[in-house]
Amino acid sequence: MSEVSGFSKLSKDEKISWIVKSKNIDDNLFKNFWLEDSCVQKKLDDLSENTISNFLMPYGLAPNFKINEKIYSVPMVIEESSVVAAASKAAKFWLSRGGFVSRVLGTVKLGHVHFSSKLSFDELKNTFEIKKDELLGSVDKYCTNMKNRGGGILSLDLIDKSNELADYYQIEVKFKTCNAMGANFINTILEKLGENFKSYCVDIEINMSILSNYTPECLVEAKLVCKISELGAICKDIDAYDFAKKFKRAIDISKIDISRAVTHNKGIMNGIDSVILATGNDFRAVEAACHAYASKDGHYSGLSNCKLEDDKFEFSLTLPMSIGTVGGLTSLHPLAKASLDILDAPSAEELMQIIACVGLAQNFGAVSSLVTTGIQKGHMKMHLLNILNQLEATPTQIEAAKDHFQTKVISYNEVRNFLNIH
Ligand code: MEV
Repeated sequence: MSEVSGFSKLSKDEKISWIVKSKNIDDNLFKNFWLEDSCVQKKLDDLSENTISNFLMPYGLAPNFKINEKIYSVPMVIEESSVVAAASKAAKFWLSRGGFVSRVLGTVKLGHVHFSSKLSFDELKNTFEIKKDELLGSVDKYCTNMKNRGGGILSLDLIDKSNELADYYQIEVKFKTCNAMGANFINTILEKLGENFKSYCVDIEINMSILSNYTPECLVEAKLVCKISELGAICKDIDAYDFAKKFKRAIDISKIDISRAVTHNKGIMNGIDSVILATGNDFRAVEAACHAYASKDGHYSGLSNCKLEDDKFEFSLTLPMSIGTVGGLTSLHPLAKASLDILDAPSAEELMQIIACVGLAQNFGAVSSLVTTGIQKGHMKMHLLNILNQLEATPTQIEAAKDHFQTKVISYNEVRNFLNIH
């Protein structure tokens, strides 16, 4: 690949010509995925830099989610076979067992002005306390809209970090951002606070001002409860009590073994990320926060919890979840907007609850399969279609293959043999 300068200044067509010439790609490929509606296409192009096409992902619905007594069909964007099927299956299973109960435990977002100073904490604190109201007043104009919606700055504190890193201090700011994820609001305020604090206290050097994606005070809990005897329908080969014990054991393993914990949490994130993507939220932010939260007790562990008490089965999940239902992609991407409409225009708190429930459903589905039939049975059934499509099977061959592989082990080679491809 040759070097290029001024690439961002080229038109979309010129960028495509450059890449197809360099790499011998069919020049219609990228254009085939452009939207007919050029206004919407332009909005998508403008979301990022150097855009030449759209990357398609499957957009599906997981129906029958009963959450706090309300039924939702949840939009999910994911490429992995069987995730939507597993979520839908778990939702249906719990529909007749009371459904999901979810509650928001906090909505506080955090940000920091990170700075260095040779002054002692006491000296800095003195200036900080004297100037605190003035500092808050200096960013008041950026808070007007958020205040009108019931949000704004909740607190401003000076934190001494010099024991961990020489001369390091923070101004820690807590925010309430209502239905917005609030990243731009928070970062604007933090940068202004940093500049203004520097003007009051010249003996400091601002290192950076940025929100924290670790949001342990912006938390949501999702819970499933039923009688153990009601779990019998999960698998015909295992008694409800044995299933409950095996299930709890799997959760216990995820608490102490990092290898299992990461995979366990990956399964939870299958559900969470799909809804985050479908609703135009930032899945990297939530991923980062959830994995950090999984390590909050000093070692990385599974995020879900299981309790068996007498005849009661309780399965729950508590997660940090900083998302929004206004602003950002939620209003620019037509399908993100459609997802929110499908969910009846939820508030950010409602969406936090829905997302956590999908994560819990996904985890319930995965662990249930793992401790009973294993996941390959369901997984490979869905994957068979991917293999067939990859091998360009005809519709008749696809139907025949589905029949043939019902009782056989599915692998790429076996499918090739079945299609007589050598
Ligand atoms: C696959 O994407 C997710 C699982 O591995 C999750 C798990 O093991 O719990 C099935």
